[in-house]
Amino acid sequence: QELQMNLEQIEKGGYDHFMLKEIYEQPSVIKDTYRGRLHANEGIIQMAGVEDNLERILNADRIIIVACGTSWHAGLVAEYVIEEFTRIPVEVEYASEFRYRNPIISNKDVVIAISQSGETADTMAAIKLAKEHGAFVFGVCNVVGSSISRETHAGAYTHAGPEIGVASTKAFTTQITVLTMIALRLAKAKGTLSHSDFQMYLQELEIIPEKVKEALETNDKAKEIAAVFKDAPNCLYLGRGYNFPVALEGALKLKEISYIHAEGYPAAEMKHGPIALIDEQMPVIVIAPKQGHYDKIVSNIQEIKSRSGKIIAVVTKGDTQVRDLADYVIEIPETSDALSPLITTIPLQLLSYHIAVMRGCNVDQPRNLAKSVTVE
Ligand code: G6P
Repeated sequence: QELQMNLEQIEKGGYDHFMLKEIYEQPSVIKDTYRGRLHANEGIIQMAGVEDNLERILNADRIIIVACGTSWHAGLVAEYVIEEFTRIPVEVEYASEFRYRNPIISNKDVVIAISQSGETADTMAAIKLAKEHGAFVFGVCNVVGSSISRETHAGAYTHAGPEIGVASTKAFTTQITVLTMIALRLAKAKGTLSHSDFQMYLQELEIIPEKVKEALETNDKAKEIAAVFKDAPNCLYLGRGYNFPVALEGALKLKEISYIHAEGYPAAEMKHGPIALIDEQMPVIVIAPKQGHYDKIVSNIQEIKSRSGKIIAVVTKGDTQVRDLADYVIEIPETSDALSPLITTIPLQLLSYHIAVMRGCNVDQPRNLAKSVTVE
């Protein structure tokens, strides 16, 4: 018994929970993800699974992404990135919906299945269905040798290392890293990004681990905000563009581990419903980096403020405009809009973590949830 406890302590590497350890591993695992694949100075991005099937993927009529949970959120980020960089149409589907709705799939489609565990039953069934219809299926998995990695035609591993916490953290950011690299590789082949933009993204991706490290310095601030809002019954997360999926993921993290009801919304949709929920009790977390729809999000913040909502804003370092409006600000380093989810996600993970700890929840093994869902 005691030995068991000690072993677990060692595995947690000095952190109180696996989730916190995994949050802090992100700078190094993102590096592991791009190591040997990204060579910014030479302007090279290469992944064997993509190189070997480049023509097939480039000639896709469209890309269909299938996944569940957090992996589905990574898929939503990828939709924005792939369409923006490559102009190939992308659709993102819940694997559980896709498999049962008699979807239109042809042999000109490329399906990307995203799964941390590589064992999710619905995702596996979606892959089999896509293959039956002749689609080319590419897997983005973390667990090496997992069922999905074996069932797909080709793939790229995320190399995040074992993720023990049920709530996914480092798997998410490494999935986004892989999918962004795929988008960049395709864009290079298609010529859909200018040479200077392509180079800029490569350089920017290479230094992302440093920026993630800097974003982890928001931990104390996240803890302070967590203490204020730990007893909130509800919470709203808003973001636009690339950060809309981050809002969804932020809300999911909070639900999963703290059992606080949370919703993520595209900020402009707030006026079509959620705004009715806003009163002085309602914490609203707004992702508002300088790059990307900044003025629009500022006016969304004003709408919340005029209804007395409590505003917690994630902003770019040095921001003053949102600071004047928000009740709390969390400052993160600047990066390009398309890569910002890798940074904006970090304080939201920390916020959920601290709220859950303060509420006495079982952070690593939340009630009713499983790390890998191998049955329907
Ligand atoms: C479960 C886990 C989530 C995960 C989802 C998809 O619900 O608790 O953290 O995002 O399954 O899992 P996968 O392994 O396919 O990414």
